[in-house]
Amino acid sequence: MKIAVGSDHAGFDEPPPFYKPEIVAHIQALGHEVIDCGTDSAEAVDYPDVAEEVSQKILGGEAEVGILMCGTGIGMSITANRHKGVRAAVCTSEEMGGLSREHNDANVLCIGRRVLTLEACKKIIDTWLEIPFSGAERHQRRVKKMG
Ligand code: RB5
Repeated sequence: MKIAVGSDHAGFDEPPPFYKPEIVAHIQALGHEVIDCGTDSAEAVDYPDVAEEVSQKILGGEAEVGILMCGTGIGMSITANRHKGVRAAVCTSEEMGGLSREHNDANVLCIGRRVLTLEACKKIIDTWLEIPFSGAERHQRRVKKMG
């Protein structure tokens, strides 16, 4: 799968391990193609800019899904969800990750460096990438109503 990945400086917060490169490597090791939308250092950047770039990759068809990281995942999700056709879900557990795919057909996963360990992020990502949208009529109907 082609996955657009973006993070603000939270992905490089001290102390190491730095989440952003670890997560990119993890996704690649799973066999996916990463479209890296930055950032690449601890220098502060504005999360809306990164969320915008990832959203555009999805809307433009370059990426099938996206993964965004900031301190909490909240700022990224608020920005990404301003785009019709982007369904961004902040997830803090594997269960949320799975349900955001199964019920909401989320196409962007938002995670937070300040609220999750790196291992927890990887597990949520694994679940999120593994579980498909259920396709049940009631879920399709509700997703359609989101626009
Ligand atoms: C940056 O300090 C922080 O506000 C950002 O990473 C994020 O948590 C916003 O939602």
